[in-house]
Amino acid sequence: MGDNTRSVVASVARIYRFALLAASLPVVLAEYFRPETGAEYGVGLVDKVVLAARMARNNVKIQTGSTFLEHLVIATKVLTIPHEDDGSLVECGCYKGGSTANLSLVAGLCNRPLEVFDSFEGMPEPNENDREHVLVKSEQIHTYDEDAWGAPIEEVQENIARYGDVSVCTFHEGYFDRTMPEFEQPCVLLFLDVGLRESAETCLEHLWPLLRSGGYCFTHDVKHMEISTLFFDGDWWRETLDTEPPGLVGAGSGLGLHPEHNGFGSLLGYIVKNPESSVFEMVAEDGEGENCVEVVRKGND
Ligand SMILES: C[S@@+](CC[C@H](N)C(=O)[O-])C[C@H]1O[C@@H](n2cnc3c(N)ncnc32)[C@H](O)[C@@H]1O
Repeated sequence: MGDNTRSVVASVARIYRFALLAASLPVVLAEYFRPETGAEYGVGLVDKVVLAARMARNNVKIQTGSTFLEHLVIATKVLTIPHEDDGSLVECGCYKGGSTANLSLVAGLCNRPLEVFDSFEGMPEPNENDREHVLVKSEQIHTYDEDAWGAPIEEVQENIARYGDVSVCTFHEGYFDRTMPEFEQPCVLLFLDVGLRESAETCLEHLWPLLRSGGYCFTHDVKHMEISTLFFDGDWWRETLDTEPPGLVGAGSGLGLHPEHNGFGSLLGYIVKNPESSVFEMVAEDGEGENCVEVVRKGND
């Protein structure tokens, strides 16, 4: 194939992927645009359209490791947290502040503080297990070096002041194992985007006990098997936090947000702390009915 043909094929593929993404938005953002989402905070349709547009714009303006669609999925959950549940949003790993700027916008709308943890000088020296991560869904191996993803705090704060709401942010500068033990505030949502299993362990060890029941823990590393498996590691959870492992929605492949070469996926997954399973639907796998299952009890019955 000549260079010209290759570039035409690449352009057509890009346009096709973009069209697929646009067509899937009503599904992916259905919960975000539901009238109840944000109603408790007085956030209506116009606010949501403006927020989505600002987030999309920020994703272009700031070099960012996550996407505005992933930020909107997190924003959706922030807008559904009951108003009376006090607590901060926490971001671990902000790089240049692209995800932080977007989270700060929704934090501002909901009048919640955003606590930002980062070394602001990049990754610590990875240990033997973190030097290489396997991403089976993407058929990739990711490698890390000390100082990768470094961005100085001044640059991050400038980006957030320009594109987000810096007034809701508190910055905790330094490696997590030094800054997190001092932090004691209740939290309603955690966003971990830390790259290393060891860093994820430090975040969960210190922040999981501060997360309210019903609160959300998002991770942006779900395709990394080394990190996804942490959420299922019974020995680690029992020894470190005296609790059973919570599991992870999207483990291995991520929430289906972006068209990829082998189906929809993303790097984003989440878990709810102590979900209220009494309101879940009960479904009998009896091999009968539509899709061979029967709904025995509807949610909220
Ligand atoms: C992948 S980047 C975050 C990307 C960012 N959330 C975005 O969407 O652009 C990972 C960040 O985690 C930080 N980090 C990882 N491990 C850390 C640790 N143990 N202590 C402090 N910062 C850490 C790095 O400095 C880096 O900024």
